[in-house]
Amino acid sequence: MDLSTTYLGLALKNPLVAAASPLGRDVGTIRRLEDAGAAAVVLPSLFQEEIEDEIEAMERMLLDCDAEAQSFLPPGLTANTGPEGYLKLIAKAREAVDIPIIASLNGSSLSGWTSYAEQVEQAGASAIELNVFFLPTDLIWSGVEIECRHIDIMQAVKQAVSIPVSIKLSPYFSSLGHVVRGLDQVGADGYVLFNRFYQPDIDLADLKLVRDVRLSHRGEIRLPLLWIGALAGKVKGSLAASSGVQTAAEVMKYLYAGADVVTTASALIRHGAGYMKTLVEGLVSEMQALELESVADFRGGLSRRKVTNREAFDRANYIQIIRTGVHAPE
Ligand SMILES: Cc1cc2nc3c(=O)[nH]c(=O)nc-3n(C[C@H](O)[C@H](O)[C@H](O)COP(=O)(O)O)c2cc1C
Repeated sequence: MDLSTTYLGLALKNPLVAAASPLGRDVGTIRRLEDAGAAAVVLPSLFQEEIEDEIEAMERMLLDCDAEAQSFLPPGLTANTGPEGYLKLIAKAREAVDIPIIASLNGSSLSGWTSYAEQVEQAGASAIELNVFFLPTDLIWSGVEIECRHIDIMQAVKQAVSIPVSIKLSPYFSSLGHVVRGLDQVGADGYVLFNRFYQPDIDLADLKLVRDVRLSHRGEIRLPLLWIGALAGKVKGSLAASSGVQTAAEVMKYLYAGADVVTTASALIRHGAGYMKTLVEGLVSEMQALELESVADFRGGLSRRKVTNREAFDRANYIQIIRTGVHAPE
């Protein structure tokens, strides 16, 4: 059986990728993920604020040095300075495993941090995943400005590196397809659908905001499934599914919709790195049951482009669905 796929131009042995999560902080766990069958691992994000704090500290130090001392420093040191720990993690992970290591950079505005991507490349990352975490809670921002911000950041990072660059997107754009088209035009290599946003709750007993990260459940695949199905075959960049994968059934659904890879974080955090093996073996069983020989045979088979009944992806059937299609499991 052929499980191979291509993601961001990288040849992968199967479509299962460990999403960015704290599991990627430890090289032993990355090795266990590889042993359990992960085709690639995305490291947890390094944040713009961490990079900028360190660049600022280095700049202060350089200003304090006299001119002669500065002339002994390698050219470009100021611009190339960043959190050492992350670069070491990339290098150690690169050495420990054969699968691609994807670094994740999390930022919200266009500034010097984007040039840090160059060091990530030099440390041995096979690709970079950008996570533009920006909540426009300030009411001055227009949709166009927010779209441009994403495109400008992608363009800056693409100019800094030669490895592939993907972007983890939010579902909250007024026209997601249009943003993806703009990103495609500046050379984005892939799209991760979707980013999972931190959303606060209120603890009524203590009257306090609750700030925690909830692990996902399988019902959360529906929104990314819709958009992967709608974008598959229409964009140059690869498509990675992110959200709600708990079993091989969700993996199959995302592949049918047109995902090049399927990523998972919550299921691995819940069950441990070894659960990747259950997912890979589950994918094989699902494919065997349907007599499918290769992932390429069915990937995208139920994308919007391939199905005749496109209404499921569109509004046309909406009224009929809300009148007749309610499914309320016990
Ligand atoms: C505890 C935890 C930490 C995460 N850390 C990151 C991170 O550092 N960077 C990032 O881009 N996504 C991060 N994510 C999001 C995941 O990579 C993933 O996109 C999201 O959880 C949806 O996938 P899932 O349903 O399989 O969990 C994190 C998720 C969890 C649950």
